[in-house]
Amino acid sequence: MIKFGIVGAGAIATSSCRAIQSHGGAEIVAASDLNADRLKELCDEFSIKKSYADSAELFADDNVEAVYIGVPNKFHAPLAKAALEAGKHVILDKPFALNYAEAKEVADIAEAKGKLLMLGMNQRYRAESQRVRQAVADGKLGDVYHAKAFWFRRAGIPRLGTWFGNKAIAGGGALLDIGVHLLDLCLFCTDNFEPESVFGKTYTVFGNRGLGEGGWGKSERSDIAFDVDDFATAFIRFKNGNSVTLDVSWAAHAEQGNRNDVHLYGTEAGASLYPDKMFRFNNDYQSGYEVIDGIGGEAKLGHCDRFHNFINSINGEEEPLTSVYQSLQIQRILDAIYESCKTGELVKFD
Ligand SMILES: NC(=O)c1ccc[n+]([C@@H]2O[C@H](COP(=O)([O-])OP(=O)(O)OC[C@H]3O[C@@H](n4cnc5c(N)ncnc54)[C@H](O)[C@@H]3O)[C@@H](O)[C@H]2O)c1
Repeated sequence: MIKFGIVGAGAIATSSCRAIQSHGGAEIVAASDLNADRLKELCDEFSIKKSYADSAELFADDNVEAVYIGVPNKFHAPLAKAALEAGKHVILDKPFALNYAEAKEVADIAEAKGKLLMLGMNQRYRAESQRVRQAVADGKLGDVYHAKAFWFRRAGIPRLGTWFGNKAIAGGGALLDIGVHLLDLCLFCTDNFEPESVFGKTYTVFGNRGLGEGGWGKSERSDIAFDVDDFATAFIRFKNGNSVTLDVSWAAHAEQGNRNDVHLYGTEAGASLYPDKMFRFNNDYQSGYEVIDGIGGEAKLGHCDRFHNFINSINGEEEPLTSVYQSLQIQRILDAIYESCKTGELVKFD
């Protein structure tokens, strides 16, 4: 049994604990949160015996072998570093860190300590994502030259007045919160993590006016400033000549409430992810066009779960579906989008 410690008893902790406990080869032995009420609630719900007000005590607990970190973004890097230094394996929720420099420090410590570090990019694990990635790898779409990734929420800003809207604690808004998922998914499906340049623009339009709240999050409200993006758009060119457009909103005027997908454009066929479909000419290229529901094939990791993959990887039974290198590249692109917005210039990678 892999013994887990949970750091953060907020909104995401419940589904994370449920997933860990569903594995059968893992148990949650400790949890930590700065807020005593939320910590008690989580410990009661999942029968967690040890609770710590300070995560340093959890990291010092020899019984804990692996740590899940689900706290405000500012604490991702410092807490992941502390856990790795203490010899724990770490599954860290997204985004990796506030910026690439911080993320790289965490990655370096994981490597030096020989511990597993994995970003829990849950959307990669969905059966559709795995199937589409396999279809691309098998050449079913021909050469995929462009992808369009988007997540448009109409009124989906996490609870206003909490850390989510504050740049100093969150590092960014919609782009870091949900853009990271679709960008990651897009690069995962095309297996291309080598960007050449990025041009981007972000906007703060709704949250700063007290509009567009969706309600996610358990942290308490305060009079903290809303100064992050609630809309972002970017054009990314890759070293192999391919391109990706990324569009994301926490809040925007739109006909539909919540839409997210990745559309792939290949020389022989196109595809979408949610739900997975393929589009192409009929066999003879004369009699029209076909839309195929379901891209076919099996999900490589049938459990479709980031925590199961993490646990199985610790046990040497699977490879992590999300590598540290890939997650660092995603962080570099996110940094570059903010940089491009600030300067108005194209950001080029070495
Ligand atoms: N993978 C996903 O799809 C997904 C979904 C939601 C959130 N997340 C990520 O999970 C993280 C947490 O989000 P949330 O929605 O649970 O937020 P939340 O505001 O609901 O909860 C955060 C919790 O962290 C606690 N906390 C803050 N600082 C701490 C510290 N130093 N040590 C221990 N506990 C601390 C808070 O008291 C709070 O209980 C964020 O980074 C977010 O991006 C990921």
